[in-house]
Amino acid sequence: SLQGDFAPLLLAWQRREGRHDLPWQNTRDPYRVWLSEIMLQQTQVTTVLGYYRNFLARFPDVAALAAAPQDEVMAAWAGLGYYSRARNLHRCAQAVVERHGGVFPSTAAELAELPGIGRSTAAAISSFCFGERAAILDGNVKRVLGRLLAFDGDLSQASQEKRLWRQAEALLPPDGADMPAYTQGLMDLGASLCATRSPQCLLCPVSALCAGRAEGEPTRYPIKTRK
Ligand code: ADE
Repeated sequence: SLQGDFAPLLLAWQRREGRHDLPWQNTRDPYRVWLSEIMLQQTQVTTVLGYYRNFLARFPDVAALAAAPQDEVMAAWAGLGYYSRARNLHRCAQAVVERHGGVFPSTAAELAELPGIGRSTAAAISSFCFGERAAILDGNVKRVLGRLLAFDGDLSQASQEKRLWRQAEALLPPDGADMPAYTQGLMDLGASLCATRSPQCLLCPVSALCAGRAEGEPTRYPIKTRK
């Protein structure tokens, strides 16, 4: 069945073919995972690598970032673009210090209350660092799940996006210990085989479950009329 088979197939593929050696993997420090997720939102991995390393050297923990002058944070971000991310990064560090005593909260619900952390980023952090069974749904994952489910709702509509969130939750593995590899596997599948224009279904670990592929036109999904 889709619900029973999706997570195990994705996990086996991630462990075989996925990425395991990026500097923000193999850590459960929410500061490092958070920083990487914000940088990776609109910037490619190869560009992020250098900035990430430099940023951590200058601001090694959330207290250091919170205490830094704003212009130093902006200087370390210069070149990455989308500068509201840097503004929110600084505000978020200050909120973690002021509201949580300098310790990142461990649930997606609490993380999503912080500046610049949306629902999907919150779930990425809590699943990677704490094994929370929280679903991610960024642009790439909307494409993966939209195709898998041949999801025919219009994702420009909030009600349809909510429906897809519920489906994403229904596909999660039962064991929280699998959550880091599962979340990474969804990201890796969306960044590699399940490409926007030319998906490589012949190599995909879940092609036998994919309703979009069964229909013969996976690139029809996800459906978006606006934006
Ligand atoms: N893009 C967003 N999050 C990522 C991650 N954890 N690894 C690689 N690419 C990503």
